[in-house]
Amino acid sequence: MMREAGIFAAGAAGALWLVRQSVRQGARAARQQRGLYSAADVSQVEPPLVLHGEVVKGFGRGGKLLGCPTANIDEKAVGNALESFGTGVYFGWAKLDGQVYKMVTSIGWNPYFKNDKKTVEPHILHDFKGDFYGKMLSIVVCAKIRPELNFDSMEALVEAIDNDKAIAVKALDDKRYEPLKAKLS
Ligand SMILES: Cc1cc2nc3c(=O)[nH]c(=O)nc-3n(C[C@H](O)[C@H](O)[C@H](O)COP(=O)(O)O)c2cc1C
Repeated sequence: MMREAGIFAAGAAGALWLVRQSVRQGARAARQQRGLYSAADVSQVEPPLVLHGEVVKGFGRGGKLLGCPTANIDEKAVGNALESFGTGVYFGWAKLDGQVYKMVTSIGWNPYFKNDKKTVEPHILHDFKGDFYGKMLSIVVCAKIRPELNFDSMEALVEAIDNDKAIAVKALDDKRYEPLKAKLS
């Protein structure tokens, strides 16, 4: 009798664990559908992508519409470096005027805006007072957060970008990304 009760309790605990696990997975999938990924989704890029070039004007939507100004690197300097690099949202380091900053970037076609060119759009995680068009920028792309996505609204895109920024700021404190700063020119 005692033994049967024990088997029943173990079975119930296992079933409860399975239910909890599937609820957690469902919640994670629902958040990912909204572009809201987490630190657990981050995967390091091997080898890291290093780019260096002049900052040029993009469409100008980043700062005005999204509250997220991006420092677009001159496409001549980028050359064909993006061709074989997977699209997505990444983080890494950026160097500007001799200073190294945390950065988050999208690489791809911006499906929400339906761009016809694959671009890299780094957002430097620092509150700059002015813009820096014409300056030289180096970036090293260290890890991927999520795929590039389309969204139902601008608010949903902004929410996902804000979440990306929070993941990047925290993840870049991990010692494993520190040596990659040496790749910046
Ligand atoms: C961290 C980050 C994540 C982004 N994620 C997406 C995305 O999932 N889908 C998308 O269409 N655009 C995404 N973008 C691209 C923005 O739409 C783009 O940077 C914005 O349109 C500014 O471009 P512009 O300055 O050339 O106008 C992302 C940009 C950043 C910085």
